[in-house]
Amino acid sequence: MKAISWLASAATVLTVGSSLALATPSQKYSWKNVKIGGGGGFVPGIVFNTKEKGLAYARTDIGGAYRLNPDDSWTPLLDFADGERWNYWGVDALATDPVDPNRLYLATGMYTNSWDPNNGQILISADRGASFNVSKLPFKVGGNMPGRGIGERLAVDPNSNNILYFGARSGNGLWKSTDYGKSWAQVGNFPSAVPGDSNDYNTDKVGIAWVTFDSTSGSSGVATPRIFVGVANKGTDNVFVTTDAGKTWGAVAGQTTTFLPHKGVLSPSEKSLYVSYSDGAGPYDGTSGAVLKYNIGTGAWTDITPASGSDLYFGFGGVAVDLQRPGTIMVAALNSWWPDGQIFRSTDSGATWSPFWSWGNYPEMNKHYSYSDSKAPWLGPNHIETNAGTLQIGWMMESLEIDPFDSNHWLYGTGATIYGGRDLLQWDTKHNVSLSSLADGIEETAILGLISPPSGPPLVSAVGDIGGFVHQSLDVAPSNSHQNPNWASASDIDYAGNKPSYVVRVGTGDSSSGKQVAYSNDYGVSWSEHPGAADSGGKVAVSADGDSILWKTGSNGVQVSQNTGSFSAVSSLPSTTSAIAADKKTNGVFYAVSGSDFYLSTDGGKTFTKKGALGASTAPFDIAAHPSVTGDVWVSTDKGLFHSTDSGATFNGISGITQAWGVALGASAASNGYPAIYVAANFGGVGYYKSDDQGANWAQINDASHGFGSAGANVLAADSRVYGRVYIGTNGRGIFYGEVDGPSSPTPTSTTTSVTSTQTTTTSGTVTQSTTSTSTTTATTAVPTPSATTTPAGPWGQCGGLGWTGPTTCTTGFQCKEGNPWYSQCVQA
Ligand SMILES: *[C@@H]1O[C@H](CO)[C@@H](O)[C@H](O)[C@H]1NC(C)=O
Ligand SMILES: *[C@@H]1O[C@H](CO)[C@@H](O)[C@H](O)[C@H]1NC(C)=O
Repeated sequence: MKAISWLASAATVLTVGSSLALATPSQKYSWKNVKIGGGGGFVPGIVFNTKEKGLAYARTDIGGAYRLNPDDSWTPLLDFADGERWNYWGVDALATDPVDPNRLYLATGMYTNSWDPNNGQILISADRGASFNVSKLPFKVGGNMPGRGIGERLAVDPNSNNILYFGARSGNGLWKSTDYGKSWAQVGNFPSAVPGDSNDYNTDKVGIAWVTFDSTSGSSGVATPRIFVGVANKGTDNVFVTTDAGKTWGAVAGQTTTFLPHKGVLSPSEKSLYVSYSDGAGPYDGTSGAVLKYNIGTGAWTDITPASGSDLYFGFGGVAVDLQRPGTIMVAALNSWWPDGQIFRSTDSGATWSPFWSWGNYPEMNKHYSYSDSKAPWLGPNHIETNAGTLQIGWMMESLEIDPFDSNHWLYGTGATIYGGRDLLQWDTKHNVSLSSLADGIEETAILGLISPPSGPPLVSAVGDIGGFVHQSLDVAPSNSHQNPNWASASDIDYAGNKPSYVVRVGTGDSSSGKQVAYSNDYGVSWSEHPGAADSGGKVAVSADGDSILWKTGSNGVQVSQNTGSFSAVSSLPSTTSAIAADKKTNGVFYAVSGSDFYLSTDGGKTFTKKGALGASTAPFDIAAHPSVTGDVWVSTDKGLFHSTDSGATFNGISGITQAWGVALGASAASNGYPAIYVAANFGGVGYYKSDDQGANWAQINDASHGFGSAGANVLAADSRVYGRVYIGTNGRGIFYGEVDGPSSPTPTSTTTSVTSTQTTTTSGTVTQSTTSTSTTTATTAVPTPSATTTPAGPWGQCGGLGWTGPTTCTTGFQCKEGNPWYSQCVQA
């Protein structure tokens, strides 16, 4: 099940472009996902294009959007999102153009509360997501907020595809574009723009739920007159309609207002709208609901809810209509937590239904499907174990689609993967279909800890919501997540430097024993529960010989355990300690940091003494210790990257790095040389950098297609056996590994960024925008030397970047601002 606690860390604020003294060389790297496979998180939306066979997209709440391939795998579309654009990975709505299949629109933004200081944006593509233009919105978008599975709240007019509607959250109302999403204006006369509460994650208004054009009401080339809009309200009208292309709106007569409308799906041949309802916004809640059919011609509403009485203990989410077979529809229980999820199918417009499973001789269940998790074996046949049993077919089922060109092909999203199959018509003939996990290529996990020990498997991970894995191969989906104990989330992992098979993992989500430390003597293949402590989460460090464990948690500060004994507080460390690490060579040596202070322990973490200062740092982030030289440590902080070779007595700051996050040491370029150093840092631009000479020279190793989201939310590990290989654990897009893929180029070559331009947003009508106070410092960079021969770049145009030969000045009222070393842009002065 998807938790949200660790996602708050995504709101780490970056300072960008604050100094541009040095042009860092780049080194060509190849980047790939470490294959976990099968998704890993909630897939709130799947949308098929209705014009072109086989074209479909999926959106996720924290890991971007994907396009479907003919072999059932998925291609990620938003990997370019970097530290400044991390909120692009929260995709709250998706629209594929029913007139021009090349056009794709994504409404992105992570949170409407303070966790995300940025407004949202519509990403506009004319090449199926290969590249995007950006239209900034004057309000926030909440791809990872409650109600993220309702929708779609973004839609393209099927008769006049320059027209789009977008339903906002937080009481910001309904918005319309008439120029393919470039500019947007609020629909002033839409009746249900309730004010929002954007300060709280759980109480902010979910707002407009969905926009559905009635394609049958108009004709090609003319704005569709009839449009239905659902609003996430109950107890008051919540389905609205216009019949004059948006000039006037009214509540649809005869509607039910008991529940929130989650989906409004048109069946054009039947001239009907199918609406699913739940009593909660989802995706976790929902204890009752309904499914209604609205006959557009007669105005009659028919209740076709497929369950009643004590069998109705869930709301409804996904609704699918088979466009090839009018009257064939399917609907998913949003959350049936016991004994399993549920889906219903009807071939007579909802008059009668058949279920995906039914009770046999109780407690036996007749499963009207065969099950395969071959593309994601770690899912296991029963991925979620609840108090009452196990769930196989899923939960949080908000997206359910039948391929508009192929009645046999269907997909639905769950809290952990995408399921579906290619023999759906056998539901009607044999009442038995083949169900498979079909999320291959979707890597949607939040990585909280990574180790690459010097022997054993190349990588072991600690992962939010799904625990983590031993990655024996980087390219093959693991067969199991960490088990026995198996908590909801693992928050960190470490190994003993002299005994790398000894691994310790800490986690959250075990309400039964509360003991959320586990250790392994076989690199994480099998585990034992550490008897010592009742606490959860945080960070862990293991002494070089494995006899001491240091554990830092939110509630109890830093604690230490010796020889698997109970944990006791380390009173010589302040409660503000923000990072801990073990020396990998000398047993009993630990390091810790707080503010600008560095601390050293030589007695197994029992006591620490304050050593030297980390410049003017206020927020140290990470500590990396040399694998074989005691006292040689690297510390990343909000003020840069610092290196000590005397156990922290003195530090040197790395020139040019103004802010740093994850830091890791890996195999050296030369045999017996100094380890390669990798760091996520602001080095005249936020990126990922490598040094082969103890930090004297650096090369940037990520490129414009690989931004890795929020640098401050990511974890780094470097391979100690393969020179050049580095692992980046992201907050939403799984783990990437990079390897050297060409010589270092001291004169960087030109790279084009995936985002080609930004459009202004026109706002009409009043938008209540809450003022969010953020600590973002957007320092403006020195404008590159103007070239006399070129005319200034226009608003939002590119004005610089490595290899850029175009204009370097901006039109009046705009100034050139560096986004990253490859891309500077004209922004409003
Ligand atoms: C993106 O912006 C450029 C520059 O304004 C424009 O030429 C192009 O048509 C836009 N593409 C899309 C898909 O809107
Ligand atoms: C559906 O087919 C599978 C695979 O053959 C079988 O295991 C299952 O029992 C069948 N379901 C029913 C209800 O017959």
